[in-house]
Amino acid sequence: MSEPRTAAAVFDALGTDYEEAFAGSAAHRASLEQLLEVLPPHARVLDIGSGTGRPTALTLTDAGHTVLGVDVSPVMVEIAARQVPGAEFRCVDIRELPLEDSSFDAVCVYFALLQMSREEQADVLRLAGRVLRPGGHLALATVPLDVEGVSGTFMGQPVEVTSFGEKEFTALVEEAGFTVLSRESNMFVPALPAAVPEPQMFLLARRR
Ligand SMILES: C[S@@+](CC[C@H](N)C(=O)[O-])C[C@H]1O[C@@H](n2cnc3c(N)ncnc32)[C@H](O)[C@@H]1O
Repeated sequence: MSEPRTAAAVFDALGTDYEEAFAGSAAHRASLEQLLEVLPPHARVLDIGSGTGRPTALTLTDAGHTVLGVDVSPVMVEIAARQVPGAEFRCVDIRELPLEDSSFDAVCVYFALLQMSREEQADVLRLAGRVLRPGGHLALATVPLDVEGVSGTFMGQPVEVTSFGEKEFTALVEEAGFTVLSRESNMFVPALPAAVPEPQMFLLARRR
């Protein structure tokens, strides 16, 4: 099998193909609707692993919020900046971007942790807690599987995937300083030839 690629290399290669396969997720849209219900007007939102900007940054800017999208893939950032001109996008690894404490009303992390080690995923959740104001909200999604460093192929790209089971991931979010308000699990079939259903889990949490 080929060497696993970095997140930047995988998503540079996928570009808008990722959006075509995944942006139709009703559960992702429902999670955004839930976030919109708890946001104050003109909220400041950080979108970690912002991808093509759709649906997350677009939905939030359309609702009058200010979005900073951060993504390590130059191709994804270029697409997002074009598709969602009302948001700001930065091409950098989220762990290397200096951000002020308590400076956001909400943080989104939709499917952006899966190419990180378990320790790195915990670090990003703590980072989300640090940059959120107390009482701010975290909208999060992952593929809840108990796997560590498993080699596979994602949309034709060699990848190494790490994740947690549902309970373990929920506990990790709580340990990072959050109260989990809701947890929705579903099976999603990406719009790809011969795709099989894959588990997804969406959490809405509040910084304690
Ligand atoms: C599976 S895609 C999801 C994109 C978007 N959140 C969505 O749900 O449509 C994951 C995104 O996270 C980005 N990403 C992965 N690791 C990252 C990191 N350390 N810092 C910033 N972005 C990262 C990838 O480049 C990719 O665009």
